[in-house]
Amino acid sequence: MRIGILGSGLMGGKLGTIFARAGHDVVFSYSHSRSKLETLAREAGVSARAGTPREAANDADVLLLAVHWSRVDDVLRQAGDISGKVLVTCSLPMNRDDTRLVVAHTSSGAEELAKKLPGVRVVSAFSTVPSEVLFAVFEARSGDRRPSLVHCGDDEEAKRAVATLIRDVGFDPVDAGALEVARYTEPFTLLVAQLAYEGDDGPALAYRFERYEERS
Ligand SMILES: NC(=O)c1ccc[n+]([C@@H]2O[C@H](COP(=O)([O-])OP(=O)(O)OC[C@H]3O[C@@H](n4cnc5c(N)ncnc54)[C@H](OP(=O)(O)O)[C@@H]3O)[C@@H](O)[C@H]2O)c1
Repeated sequence: MRIGILGSGLMGGKLGTIFARAGHDVVFSYSHSRSKLETLAREAGVSARAGTPREAANDADVLLLAVHWSRVDDVLRQAGDISGKVLVTCSLPMNRDDTRLVVAHTSSGAEELAKKLPGVRVVSAFSTVPSEVLFAVFEARSGDRRPSLVHCGDDEEAKRAVATLIRDVGFDPVDAGALEVARYTEPFTLLVAQLAYEGDDGPALAYRFERYEERS
C-alpha cells in the first residue's frame, strides 16, 4: 500500500517506520522539522520518504492521522482534498493538556472526523496501545500469541485494508463494528494509558482478548 503519515511524532513516526519495514511505500509528513522527517525516512528504509502533508496525501491509498486533536484541522487543511481515501486515525479527542476527552458518550473523535470529511473512509485504529509497545510487537510478530488490536469503521473495504496493516505491525485485528463503536474504544484507551503510564511495569503494554466456550 501507499501510506501517507500525517503527523510524524511518537505514533506516526513509529507506525510509519514499521509500515515501511513491512514493505509498504510511506511518506512521512507534518513535523516542525523537515530534517526529522528526512531522518525518519532514511532510517525506515528505501520505501520511505519525507514530504509535505499534500504530497503524503496525493500519493496515498491510506492516510494515518497521528496528530494532537488541536492540530487536526491544520494538518487536514494542508493535506488538501482527500476524498475517496482511507483515513485511519489514532488521534484521540483530548484537551490541550491531555487530561480528558473533549468528545465522548454521544459521539467520538472518529465520528467527528467522518462528519468533517464526507467521502473519506474513516477507520479508527492503533489509538488503543501506547507508542512504546509498537516496535516490540513488530519484533514478536512471528510468535503465536499476538496481542489484539480493536478497530472500527463504516466501510468494510477500508477496514480490510486497515486490518492488513494491523497484522503487518504484529497485532491480531479485532473488528469491533461500526465507527460509532469508537465511543467505547476511545475511553478504553485512557484505561490502557493509565496502566501503561501510571503503573510500575513500564509503558510497553498491549492487550489480548480471549474467547472461551460458554459453560453452565
Ligand atoms: N503517544 C502515544 O502513545 C499515543 C497512543 C495512542 C493515541 N495517541 C494519539 O495519537 C495522536 C498523536 O500522538 P503522538 O504522541 O504521536 O503525538 P506527537 O508525538 O506530539 O506527534 C505529533 C506530530 O505532529 C507534529 N506537529 C504538531 N504541531 C505541529 C505544527 N504546528 N506544525 C507541524 N507539525 C506539527 C509534531 O511535530 P514534531 O515532530 O516537530 O514534534 C509531531 O510530528 C494524538 O492524538 C494522541 O492522542 C498517542
